[in-house]
Amino acid sequence: MYFSIEPKTSKEDLFNFDEPYAALKKCIGLNEERLVVVFGLRRTGKTSLMKVVYNELDMPKIYIDAREIFPLTPLSTNQYLVSIFIEFARKYDIIKAILEHVSAVEFVLRAEGKEREAILSSILKNINAEMQKRKTHLVIFIDEAQLLKPTGADRLLAYIYDNLKHIQIVVAGSEIGILEEFAGQNKNASLFGRAKKQITLNRLRPEQSFLFLKKGFAQAKKQISEKELMAAITEIDGIVGWLSMYGWHYLKIGSKKALETIVKDGSKIIADELEAFLSYRGEARRRYLIMLRTLSIREMRWNELKRTLELEEKKKINDSHISNYIEALVNYGFIEKEGINYKLADPLLKRGLDFVKI
Ligand SMILES: Nc1ncnc2c1ncn2[C@@H]1O[C@H](COP(=O)(O)OP(=O)(O)OP(=O)(O)O)[C@@H](O)[C@H]1O
Ligand SMILES: [Mg+2]
Repeated sequence: MYFSIEPKTSKEDLFNFDEPYAALKKCIGLNEERLVVVFGLRRTGKTSLMKVVYNELDMPKIYIDAREIFPLTPLSTNQYLVSIFIEFARKYDIIKAILEHVSAVEFVLRAEGKEREAILSSILKNINAEMQKRKTHLVIFIDEAQLLKPTGADRLLAYIYDNLKHIQIVVAGSEIGILEEFAGQNKNASLFGRAKKQITLNRLRPEQSFLFLKKGFAQAKKQISEKELMAAITEIDGIVGWLSMYGWHYLKIGSKKALETIVKDGSKIIADELEAFLSYRGEARRRYLIMLRTLSIREMRWNELKRTLELEEKKKINDSHISNYIEALVNYGFIEKEGINYKLADPLLKRGLDFVKI
């Protein structure tokens, strides 16, 4: 079924994903594709794609959702990874790795930074050697990978990339630009300079959104008028996650209310994400909000955004500050660049802004 509110786990529930699905499947187990990055705006199906491919995979595999690690400190991340890899080694009967590290978990608790990292890399070395012996690969899927950046785990991934040829990494994350940075776009990043395979999930075009809803309602054996479909698409645009949620609500509470609910709930979710982003922005909060509100009225170029902000603030603002604000908004997936203009990445953000006070 297409309509659900959680990520999909089987291929038959994925609409229009033949290309990215085939691209990801094709990379798996290839030595030359050591790092695969799944990009896409929020709710375009990154987790679904990873889960479907993970479930189908008939080879050693690990799935990590970085949100499970709490608190996200270097120590707890290290402990989490040690326990995940030891569990993996047990499952795959990699006796040597286990014996060597049965006491590692307790040891890790006491060990200092460098030592802890050494334990982890030694476990991974054992796993890699075993994979090589068995002529296979371990594929590690990491969702919301960008969250791991402050824990230093990107250095571990660079180590794996450089040294452990039988471990492959597939990452995805909802903060696009941050994930790009994490995966090595930025020259200060640990993974900088490593070749990677990018798989990008795009929003649906209007005719695809139409087909998605039509097929979804047909699966549920529900009649729905074209007028209703068009109204939903106009409001929600082509983000598959919102369309899927719309269909799910429609089947539960009927036509009109479904659209109201998705617009209200969806924009509230985005408002919460925006609040989280702004909570680290101190005094620049107001500036970010002015920029987003301006863009919710119309698309704009860099210069126009600068001018609008200066008019609102009644003072000159340094170019580098403007660039930083824009870059952060793009990085977190709130706005995107189309041609020379910047625009809101998701139409529901326009409503979401009503919930966020300057
Ligand atoms: N190809 C698809 N066909 C049908 N439904 C989909 C598809 N891709 C995603 N969905 C639905 O859209 C919603 C969001 O999907 P998912 O969580 O996989 O996206 P995401 O890109 O990981 O989102 P986020 O950016 O929040 O992490 C879910 O309800 C999922 O079931
Ligand atoms: Mg996701």
